[in-house]
Amino acid sequence: MDSTKPLLLTDLVSGSKHVPSNYIRPEHDRPNLDEVEHYSLDGNSSSIPLIDLQGLHGPNHSDIINHIGHACQNYGFFRIKNHGIQEAVIDSMLRVAKEFFQLPEFERLRSYSDDPFKTTRLSTSFNPKAEAVSSWRDYLRLHCHPLEDYVDEWPANPASFREEAAEYCRNVRGLARRLLAAISESLGLERDYVDRALGQHGQHMAINYYPPCPQPELTYGLPGHADPNVITVLLQDDVAGLQVRRNGKWVAVDPMPYTFIVNIGDQIQVLSNERYKSVLHRAVVNSDKERISIPTFYCPSYDAIIGPAQKLLDEDEPAHYRSFTYGEYYEKFWNRGLQTQTCLDMFKTHIP
Ligand code: OGA
Ligand code: NI
Repeated sequence: MDSTKPLLLTDLVSGSKHVPSNYIRPEHDRPNLDEVEHYSLDGNSSSIPLIDLQGLHGPNHSDIINHIGHACQNYGFFRIKNHGIQEAVIDSMLRVAKEFFQLPEFERLRSYSDDPFKTTRLSTSFNPKAEAVSSWRDYLRLHCHPLEDYVDEWPANPASFREEAAEYCRNVRGLARRLLAAISESLGLERDYVDRALGQHGQHMAINYYPPCPQPELTYGLPGHADPNVITVLLQDDVAGLQVRRNGKWVAVDPMPYTFIVNIGDQIQVLSNERYKSVLHRAVVNSDKERISIPTFYCPSYDAIIGPAQKLLDEDEPAHYRSFTYGEYYEKFWNRGLQTQTCLDMFKTHIP
């Protein structure tokens, strides 16, 4: 390999007019952007349900639980408002994220690693060591729980990065746990069922940076995939790019300020014995704007043993998955490269 070749996409393609050949997808695996479904946000229609969390612990409790259950069962995705996280916390997170990716190359590269099991790392694509075609993305990945174990590893530049990102992480952890209690209840389980199933809990955050792309039809920011964790709470800036699989089509999920997008990950599909589905989604890129998205991946600790909840099983409803540790699952996810075929099939009790 040419030792002067930049490690990160941002530095490799800055100002270029063509997508380098190792980013070009084979013809049968391209975004086909003309075929994507769009909904207008100004009407009442949105591509995924919008759930107002106002009154979750008060008068609207059972309506909201039902709404969440319905969204998890039918979409695997929903958007939330009145989620309790201050706008200033969201603004600060997006600001330090953007400032980080604007730093000079040598400053960003202090965090670089191509080892997917490092707890703080800047990388590119998905797992450059395990993939044939690269994706149009750089990303900073941070472990965030327990916060005090990791925060000193995080980038020290921009100067307020650690403080602002830590505040954001504390807030999102609270939100994620409220959502997990609601999801447990919507399944007819005890409110703390999922919470207790996750061992010591884990929380990872990615800051995805998608540079503008001269030929967005040829490549992905992230190809179609399901998230391996429990639930994902996604913050995105004001540039569109997320698309969700629904009824055999790709549907765009456009930005709506100060809302979060929540999706069910593979571990809820297992815990719920497939009542709730971990749905495929992808990120596409565009030719004129950079885009930042910040997913929080709420997860079990690696030693937590995950399997279908006993209460949801009976003679007519046998377990669809064997039990496994999250560590085993997570290692499989990263080592095989990002694929549309989900890792879940490797843990099935029978061949589908
Ligand atoms: C992810 C992801 C979507 C986006 O990072 O797992 O699905 O919009 N991101 O960046
Ligand atoms: Ni994802």
